Amino acid sequence: MSDNKRCPFFLFFIIFHLLAAQSFAANSTNISYEIEPFIRVYKNGTVERLTGTDTVLPSLNPKSKVLSKDIIIEPSVNISARLYLPSSAAGRSRKLPLLVYIHGGAFFTSSPFTSIYHSYLNSVVAEANAISVSVNYRLAPEHPLPAAYEDSWLVLQWVFSHSKDGGGGTEAWLQNNVDFDRVYVSGDSAGGNIAHNVVVRAGLEETGGVRIRGLFLNCPHFWGKE
Ligand SMILES: *[C@@H]1O[C@H](CO)[C@@H](O)[C@H](O)[C@H]1NC(C)=O
Ligand SMILES: *[C@@H]1O[C@H](CO)[C@@H](O)[C@H](O)[C@H]1NC(C)=O
Ligand SMILES: *[C@@H]1O[C@H](CO)[C@@H](O)[C@H](O)[C@H]1NC(C)=O
Ligand SMILES: *[C@@H]1O[C@H](CO)[C@@H](O)[C@H](O)[C@H]1NC(C)=O
Repeated sequence: MSDNKRCPFFLFFIIFHLLAAQSFAANSTNISYEIEPFIRVYKNGTVERLTGTDTVLPSLNPKSKVLSKDIIIEPSVNISARLYLPSSAAGRSRKLPLLVYIHGGAFFTSSPFTSIYHSYLNSVVAEANAISVSVNYRLAPEHPLPAAYEDSWLVLQWVFSHSKDGGGGTEAWLQNNVDFDRVYVSGDSAGGNIAHNVVVRAGLEETGGVRIRGLFLNCPHFWGKE
């Protein structure tokens, strides 16, 4: 799940664009700033996202037989997630591991609902025989950091609320299928940064007895194949 060689190049790419954005905006007449290839922010406050805006619906994947659905976790701030259930969960006495996935996009763009993340999670869940919760956190610049950290932590707390000692969680896919001794967190790019942040936090705060087993940080090697 890692592709470490490409990470430094990607970081350089982001930093270069952050520095270059203000001075080289193609047409700055009405543009406040531009960070290619992610966002363009107009002086009137409108934010235009240049990538990661496509969405696909949750489904029963005909090939992998993975079932997915979208749920709202915190309506007051519109935090949601896409859940994935592999076909192997049916009629199984042994519970499955859980992978909490946090997407990338430079904190500015993308969501669990893009075709790229949806197909990625479909294949990971089928291969790993795991349940997954793919986190839809709020994006900058409308919701600057630490919103993404807070939102992802909120989703992790929601996950913990389904464990034996967590109490209160009512999502049947988690209640019936998840082995809370095998919870993993993963993310790519900005999502890797968020994953690291929330796993550190899980080491310090109340987790309903859940101990996170592993943290996987991906490089966005599947980017550009949209
Ligand atoms: C920027 O857009 C304005 C308004 O459409 C146009 O008049 C101007 O020529 C453009 N400038 C550049 C550098 O493209
Ligand atoms: C720039 O903003 C002005 C005033 O709102 C508007 O009339 C004009 O069409 C805008 N230009 C572009 C290129 O969007
Ligand atoms: C803000 O400006 C952009 C570019 O001129 C325009 O496309 C958009 O509709 C404007 N939004 C509002 C709310 O005026
Ligand atoms: C809530 O989030 C969904 C999914 O990202 C989005 O389509 C919708 O517009 C959001 N609603 C509000 C009120 O922000």
